[in-house]
Amino acid sequence: MHRHSHAIPSSLGALALAGAVWLVPGTAAAQDSGHALMAGLTLSYSIGARSGFGIGGDLRYTYFQDEPQGFPINGSLGIGAFFQGTYLLNGAGRFAFGAHANMLTNVFFDLDTEFGATIRTESKEGDVPGGVGVHLGLVPLFNALVLETGPTFRGSIGVTEGMESEFIVGGDIRGPGPCVYIDCFQVVSGRPLRTGPNAEATFAPLRIGPPHPARPRRKAKASGRGTRERLFSHWARAASAECASVPAFLALARDLSRAGAPDTLVSRAIRSAEEEETHTKLCAALANEWSPVHLSPELPPVPRRSDECPDALLCRLALDSFWDGLLGEGAAAAEARRTRLFAKDEPTREVLSVIARDEQGHAELSEQIVAFCLSAGGKSVRNALRESVERSWAGEETRLSHVEGAAEDSEARMLGLPDAAAQRLAREEAFEASMRLVSRTL
Ligand SMILES: [Fe+2]
Ligand SMILES: [Fe+2]
Repeated sequence: MHRHSHAIPSSLGALALAGAVWLVPGTAAAQDSGHALMAGLTLSYSIGARSGFGIGGDLRYTYFQDEPQGFPINGSLGIGAFFQGTYLLNGAGRFAFGAHANMLTNVFFDLDTEFGATIRTESKEGDVPGGVGVHLGLVPLFNALVLETGPTFRGSIGVTEGMESEFIVGGDIRGPGPCVYIDCFQVVSGRPLRTGPNAEATFAPLRIGPPHPARPRRKAKASGRGTRERLFSHWARAASAECASVPAFLALARDLSRAGAPDTLVSRAIRSAEEEETHTKLCAALANEWSPVHLSPELPPVPRRSDECPDALLCRLALDSFWDGLLGEGAAAAEARRTRLFAKDEPTREVLSVIARDEQGHAELSEQIVAFCLSAGGKSVRNALRESVERSWAGEETRLSHVEGAAEDSEARMLGLPDAAAQRLAREEAFEASMRLVSRTL
């Protein structure tokens, strides 16, 4: 998913004030669905029974499902339950509970709706009676990453005698945002880190803290807020993905050596880990130029070796190198090349050049690993690869026709953000390269 909204810097800033915290749990990534528990603070002003300010807490559970069947937008749907308790400054209390449903779009906009019951206690002076009402709420929230914030429009329709209807406006701040629980991003990011065979890709945690006084801020002044936030999101996500590639390559080097691969392949895998470390630093530096706080990726541990027989090891190396290396890193290289064509910002162009060159090298290394596995493993590797390609090809082709990237934003593109066309063409380019390998070797 991509980004939007003023709330990102402000909520990150709020977290920074509280000291360094984890931004993304190490295991949270690439989840199609997930359970989310959020706590929040609500500030409100009610008109109706008796005008007055209120302050309260909000607790909600949500089950998110990414792009359910028939969902009209690219995003997620959430359903769950909520409970709110508010202290009204006129001395009364208001409680609301019920069901909520939200729609989380790929621009980090989260529209939450609430339906339930309200109970209001009698005011302190006894002049405003309490009672029960129907609760309705509409809450557009921004920044699904760490802390969601947004205006709130709620109301209660009095049901019991004496309970007057109310209209309540205010603001909510809740955390952690849904993107801590489910995958809200879509970026081509190179070789993913997998903690086991067929495991989902994971990302590196990002630590946030107060900004460094010496960090460059020149660009932040030169561009619109939406563009800055999209760039921050893109480079933060890229830094996290690049950082996860470091242990992925160290595990690859170890497994190549266990499989008896030539030393040149092992040492190229180690060199690739070093290159991914450089990419991490470069992407984190660019993210920090757009961020009001300081982000630093934390290196995840190298995944443990899985107990496999030599045949299974060769098959896994071949499949990972084909899908994650040739296709994934090939696409990352092509995307960086294509994005660089439109980028005018010199430091960003340099970063894109390094990434394009290295990721292309990683894709080529992957091709050589596939060749080694085929020659060492023979028929069983060939069959496993053929079977995997036959099984997943149609899905890959469908995905290709649905690659969606950032909306057209010429300013962001000039500053190095890949747009939808660059992402689609990059994926196509890598897809064609892997098709050539299939027709040559299988
Ligand atoms: Fe990389
Ligand atoms: Fe890579």
